[in-house]
Amino acid sequence: MPLTKGEIAALLKDEEHQQTLFDKADLVRKQYVGDEVHLRGLIEFSNICRNNCLYCGIRRGNAKACRYRMSEEEIIETARRAANLGFKTIVMQSGEDMYYDTNRMCRIIEAIKKFDVAVTLSIGERTYAEYKAFRTAGADRYLMRIETTDKELYHKLDPDMSWQHRYECLLAIKELGYELGSGIMVGLPEQSVESIAEDLLFLKDLGVDMAGIGPFIPHPETPLAKEKGGTLNLALRTMAVMRLLLPDINIPATTAMESLAPDGRLQALKAGANVVMPNVTDREYCKLYELYPNKICMNDTPAHCKSCIGLKILSIGRTIGSGQGGHQY
Ligand code: 5AD
Ligand code: FES
Repeated sequence: MPLTKGEIAALLKDEEHQQTLFDKADLVRKQYVGDEVHLRGLIEFSNICRNNCLYCGIRRGNAKACRYRMSEEEIIETARRAANLGFKTIVMQSGEDMYYDTNRMCRIIEAIKKFDVAVTLSIGERTYAEYKAFRTAGADRYLMRIETTDKELYHKLDPDMSWQHRYECLLAIKELGYELGSGIMVGLPEQSVESIAEDLLFLKDLGVDMAGIGPFIPHPETPLAKEKGGTLNLALRTMAVMRLLLPDINIPATTAMESLAPDGRLQALKAGANVVMPNVTDREYCKLYELYPNKICMNDTPAHCKSCIGLKILSIGRTIGSGQGGHQY
């Protein structure tokens, strides 16, 4: 649906009629991508990061974070267990940790591909040659949020990073034939509704296959500890408008939404979302991968989470995706 920046901003601001927006996004979701909810098994394999983003709990400046790196064998074993649980996509996420160089990453990707799953990488900014090597090794999809398209805000929040460079990475990933996932946080300090409207138009122009939208949640051990953070409702409205703009893409009910309300993901699934990414990381590591506080499911096994979210999905009249659930045209 073509919407102007002004129209988008008006929808984002309109708390009173948000249910109408959610219902519309839900209908569009049903028409374009159906009732299946695709599950992705998320492995958070290292919380070591070379960056120092002000909002992020695993920023390199957080000396209180207890750092870990999973070995190749541990990562592959975690993926094997997730595949055995029935996950058809494995998402490998980490901080920007260069210990996982081209060869190491390629070996892991090749091993996981043997489990007959789609492999999604979420490991940040790398060189074109690395993106190409990972793709050749079998990686199917790549997730990297642009976070915000307000360049001034971006450079304030992500010191020593370049918005332009991140954008060029996204273009390279797309050109190499990955399915591209990107997205934003809402409720960042100084972020206006107009700026979020521009973010949504940016994601539309980029032609993303997946868009993840989550509320910013202040982490106590970061410089933004005292900020307000985003609300669930604004995040849901943003996600719903994304569904109207790009009707057939994959949109996750993000974990950060569930951190703000116990049924946050179900609310999202009823307002345009069609994907959920349960965490399959060993809980000893999962607890240490703390981007924001109140992370969910930390005392529940991956098998428990899979059945828990599965039952919730069925309870709202939806079904669990039977295939890899890529972006279909
Ligand atoms: N609150 C919410 N989301 C966050 N992320 C990082 N830090 C936070 C936070 N404090 C998101 C970023 C990143 C993704 C992996 O997690 O959008 O891209
Ligand atoms: Fe983890 Fe419900 S999804 S306990």
